[in-house]
Amino acid sequence: MDQVNGSLVTEFVLLGLAQSLGMQIFLFVFFSLFYVGIILGNLFIMLTVIFDSHLHSPMYILLANLSLIDVGLSSTTVPRMISDLFSGCKIISFHNCMIQMFFIHVMGGVEMVLLIAMAFDRYTAICKPLHYLTTMNTKTCMLLVVAAWIIGVIHAVSQFVFVINLPFCGPNNVGSFYCDFPRVIKLACMDTYRLEFVVTANSGFISMGTFFFLIVSYIFILATVRQHSSKDLSKAFVTLSAHITVLVLFFTPCMFLYVWPFPTKSMDKFFAIVDFVITPVLNPAIYTLRNRDMKVAMGRLSRQVVSSRDIP
Ligand SMILES: *[C@@H]1O[C@H](CO)[C@@H](O)[C@H](O)[C@H]1NC(C)=O
Repeated sequence: MDQVNGSLVTEFVLLGLAQSLGMQIFLFVFFSLFYVGIILGNLFIMLTVIFDSHLHSPMYILLANLSLIDVGLSSTTVPRMISDLFSGCKIISFHNCMIQMFFIHVMGGVEMVLLIAMAFDRYTAICKPLHYLTTMNTKTCMLLVVAAWIIGVIHAVSQFVFVINLPFCGPNNVGSFYCDFPRVIKLACMDTYRLEFVVTANSGFISMGTFFFLIVSYIFILATVRQHSSKDLSKAFVTLSAHITVLVLFFTPCMFLYVWPFPTKSMDKFFAIVDFVITPVLNPAIYTLRNRDMKVAMGRLSRQVVSSRDIP
């Protein structure tokens, strides 16, 4: 048996999502359809934004980046949840468990900063319209995206460094459907009280703080919009309510998974599914179905694809 960092545990056992065959088949179909939807929907958004020059504005470039992260975030867990559904013993190696945790937090961190960047973009457009073009130019947009990645990596590394060297000597039952810091830390054979606080502070309080900050920002933006004409109001309201929906869907599970001190398996299951399966598929749905520019651009893109096929 090869040893990892002098500890005895070389693999972890994950929890099964469903016991009965009927439920397994249902979840298999559900996850597979949603995962295909996540890939296709988000890919479609990225391609539309990249190939349609009408959409080369910060709002859409940030949206395309969010799509990329959504694909990444769900890919950290969903394929594994699908392939684990029918296997009797859901074993994940120590390395894969660490890799999964790391990427969940890189993607989660980037997504969080991108949501802030999107709020900042709307704030500038609506509350400081005269400065919009100078403030939110291509360079700022690029900076925001780079910052999002750097912060995402720092966020993941800052928790990872504590966990990678923990001694694990069994038991090795993670008690969840995927590896994540709060559950894995509890398995270390030492007093992990302080570490648990580091994780709660780093993932929990940061997501909670970001969530309330963003909600207050959007309320402020909406209040500004209200002072203008009613035509502005309805258009901005559609965009802003889409953003707010995404915020609530993304952050509610985060807060429960990292801050709520009494985790239960059924809640975990539910919140994990919301964050990794539902939110990533809803983003493209929310943004495209409610956004006229996006729909027009998608129509244009599909017409181009069709007509380019007609040319011999
Ligand atoms: C993400 O943002 C960068 C920087 O603004 C941009 O160059 C890139 O095209 C965006 N990515 C996608 C998938 O649109």
